[in-house]
Amino acid sequence: MLPNESPETQARFTGFEATYDAWSKARLADVGVTEGWNCLEVGGGSGSVARWLARRVGMGGQVVVTDLDVRFLSGIESRNLRVREHDIVRDELEADTFDLVHARLVLMHLREREQVIARLVRALRPGGWLVLEDCDMAYTAVLDSATADAQALTDKVVRAGTAALREGGFDPGWGRRQYTALRRRGLVDVAAAGYVVACGADSPGTELFRASYRLLGDRMIDTGLITGEELDAWFAATADPSYTWFSPLLVSTRGRRPSTPVPPDGTEG
Ligand SMILES: C[S@@+](CC[C@H](N)C(=O)[O-])C[C@H]1O[C@@H](n2cnc3c(N)ncnc32)[C@H](O)[C@@H]1O
Repeated sequence: MLPNESPETQARFTGFEATYDAWSKARLADVGVTEGWNCLEVGGGSGSVARWLARRVGMGGQVVVTDLDVRFLSGIESRNLRVREHDIVRDELEADTFDLVHARLVLMHLREREQVIARLVRALRPGGWLVLEDCDMAYTAVLDSATADAQALTDKVVRAGTAALREGGFDPGWGRRQYTALRRRGLVDVAAAGYVVACGADSPGTELFRASYRLLGDRMIDTGLITGEELDAWFAATADPSYTWFSPLLVSTRGRRPSTPVPPDGTEG
């Protein structure tokens, strides 16, 4: 529903990078990614996290970055960074290989997310880390706006946007469900933390949502949860320099594959 071939994609990828990269890199540094690690970045988008990982693991390490559509990854390959056109739902994936598997803002879009987690866990070498990052769309807060009903408009827009995306398998609450999902797959040392940041009217973080809702506009109206006039009013409110809101909560959940084998059904014990 948000295809990479659309003209809005550059704004969306710039928004992810500007809003979430510093947080994501800190989470990855926290699991200890360092010289010599073998890493898999799934659904890498424009590759900003993959490029950072490649610098971090050095020439003794290796990063593979995959995406269904690799057009924004062209030209980033280097001796320790490989780009792979790959569907994480359907295509083969090596087993017992990676010290780190990371996927940001990918699984919440995939109806088959539970099977995908099982594949990602199998791809880890024993002791390797899985780090998943996805939003929990339940929380939005407008911090400042010249528009009196900006919070109500924002709530409506987010609700209609997530309802439109649900048809494609999107789970707006996946961020909070990762934790249990990783535990059920037999991972250990599971931990989670969340991140929000204030985004102004002209910030990449706000433009990312404006770009997404431009793409989804008609579908959002079709849900019956918002009118065309309300959507226009939200675009006007978010264009006013006073507008500032919290980015939707990004939940980062990590878990480590135990050193003993994970059973085929992923259950513990
Ligand atoms: C919301 S973007 C996030 C991009 C990047 N991970 C980031 O956070 O900046 C989702 C990305 O996942 C990719 N994607 C969607 N379905 C996929 C699949 N089945 N296998 C691999 N990549 C997929 C999309 O092409 C897109 O680049």
